[in-house]
Amino acid sequence: MRLREKVAVVTGSGQGIGAAVARSMAAEGANVVVTDINASSANDIAMEIKSAGGKAIACEADVAEHTQVECLVEESLGAFGTIDILVNNAGITRPAMIHKMTAEEWQQVLAVNLTGVFNCTQIVGRVFMQKADDNPDSIANGRIINVTSIAGLRGTIGQINYAAAKAGVVGITMSAAREWGRKGINVNCVALGLVETDMTETIRSDPRFRDQYLKGIVLRRYAMPEDVAPAVLFLASREADYITGQVLNVCGGADIHN
Ligand SMILES: NC(=O)c1ccc[n+]([C@@H]2O[C@H](COP(=O)([O-])OP(=O)(O)OC[C@H]3O[C@@H](n4cnc5c(N)ncnc54)[C@H](O)[C@@H]3O)[C@@H](O)[C@H]2O)c1
Repeated sequence: MRLREKVAVVTGSGQGIGAAVARSMAAEGANVVVTDINASSANDIAMEIKSAGGKAIACEADVAEHTQVECLVEESLGAFGTIDILVNNAGITRPAMIHKMTAEEWQQVLAVNLTGVFNCTQIVGRVFMQKADDNPDSIANGRIINVTSIAGLRGTIGQINYAAAKAGVVGITMSAAREWGRKGINVNCVALGLVETDMTETIRSDPRFRDQYLKGIVLRRYAMPEDVAPAVLFLASREADYITGQVLNVCGGADIHN
């Protein structure tokens, strides 16, 4: 029970990686705010956690909308009294080659994957800073774990919007870590490779992409959401008290493959 009584807000946790993180945090004793733009999937995951004996609420919110994130934080505080952990996981893709990408495709991905991370970091961060002011000697006033991608570290083909946003998430991570370290707030990110979720359905089912991507992974398999959730859990736990501003690559070695 590494997260006993901690309150964790996990964005985009109605399915995929976010749902796996929400489940694993609840299993470690956390009170989980399952939040997603899709209210019914968030409800399903919150119900599932509660049926398994955990504590969770569902909350519909679009991370790209500042006012909706403010409501999310109010609801979380109303339900559980505080927030200890924020996982910025919500994300979308709008693939297109650079010369064909529309301004809308560029903006949509930046709005969710980058501005969404900023919105949640800022608004939940205010709660963490208040805790730090109330407990100046505490070294554990908040944890933020951002979900980025190795596309943000080494680029990718056909998704410049996504790679740019995910590189920006690394910048947010390091900046927030530097700004808030003295307040006992740790900010890290996990850089994922290819995980079996709806997001990667085309890559995994189209034979033109499937084998090519698989060859680039040292472990020669795609990750399941349950393969990556433990890394997020680790960064949220007290075992990571002295880790901040870091990028933990959880990608089966796809980052070291030539
Ligand atoms: N699947 C992969 O291979 C992979 C690789 C690297 C990084 N990631 C990142 O992991 C995160 C989760 O991706 P996934 O694979 O689970 O995808 P997914 O599509 O299965 O799940 C994404 C979730 O985010 C929610 N969402 C989308 N827009 C939102 C918004 N504006 N506000 C709130 N919620 C919103 C969706 O409703 C969905 O539940 C994303 O940030 C993604 O970029 C995924």
